[in-house]
Amino acid sequence: MSISESSGKLTSEAIASGLQTQRFGRTAFILDTISSTNEYARTLDEERSIHGTLVTAEVQTSGHGRLGRPWDSPKSKNLLFSLLLKPEQDDIHKASLIPFAAALAAAEAIEAETSLSVECKWPNDLLIEKKKVCGMLLESSIIGTRIEKLVLGIGVNVNQEEFPVEILPQATSLLIEKGAPIDRIGLLQRMLVALEKRYDQLMSGPATHVLDAWKRKTTMFGTHVTVRESHRILTGVAESLADDGSLQLRLEDGSLYTVRAGDVTLGYQQTFLHH
Ligand code: BTN
Repeated sequence: MSISESSGKLTSEAIASGLQTQRFGRTAFILDTISSTNEYARTLDEERSIHGTLVTAEVQTSGHGRLGRPWDSPKSKNLLFSLLLKPEQDDIHKASLIPFAAALAAAEAIEAETSLSVECKWPNDLLIEKKKVCGMLLESSIIGTRIEKLVLGIGVNVNQEEFPVEILPQATSLLIEKGAPIDRIGLLQRMLVALEKRYDQLMSGPATHVLDAWKRKTTMFGTHVTVRESHRILTGVAESLADDGSLQLRLEDGSLYTVRAGDVTLGYQQTFLHH
């Protein structure tokens, strides 16, 4: 299949053709326009909530990112998809580490498909040349005290040619970095294979295999970062990743601070963050 054909419409036939996974993407909802693939996956009824189910769309009318931000993407240029995950109850304690397995897998798949060099940034962004090319959002659906299912949403800037001027300094696409269009179906298939492999590895053994591999794909440790939490901005040196996925930040007074949820900007960039 030529790039122009396969970077055209996403179809279930094209995605299923030659797909090398056991479960991820084996059940798929391929949509044209949807509010958000995460929302669609979250509201699938019990019967259709099969582990590994893929929901993808050409365009989202209210795609969202972490920290309540919108995720806008022009129609049919990028990859917008969600995977429904149903961890065994014994593995639920590893749920907060899924985004690390997913970011690592996505980085590996993008590198294999494009030969570009991809870096992980805490908690689960992917960067090329320090610019964001992929973001992830893990949401859970809880019944009582039990996690019933998880929805992992992934947005990859694939063939987007331009970005709004306000995000241009921080965002890029594979097309921009590679200088050529990328086969969306080929990339999605590779991502599904890598995501399944890293997810199964995380769930079936010690989390350190995945976390150590994630650490090898980041250059942020030992460098100055600016962290935005919901109510404040901190600067310090990113020191390490804790076993639960938190970021350990060495503050200027020498103390170690644990960041559980937030956003990291590489370097001291307070002026940008105050806007
Ligand atoms: C982030 O970096 O803030 C996370 C972005 C996640 C975007 C994806 S696109 C597919 C899925 N549907 C959504 O509404 N969000 C995720």
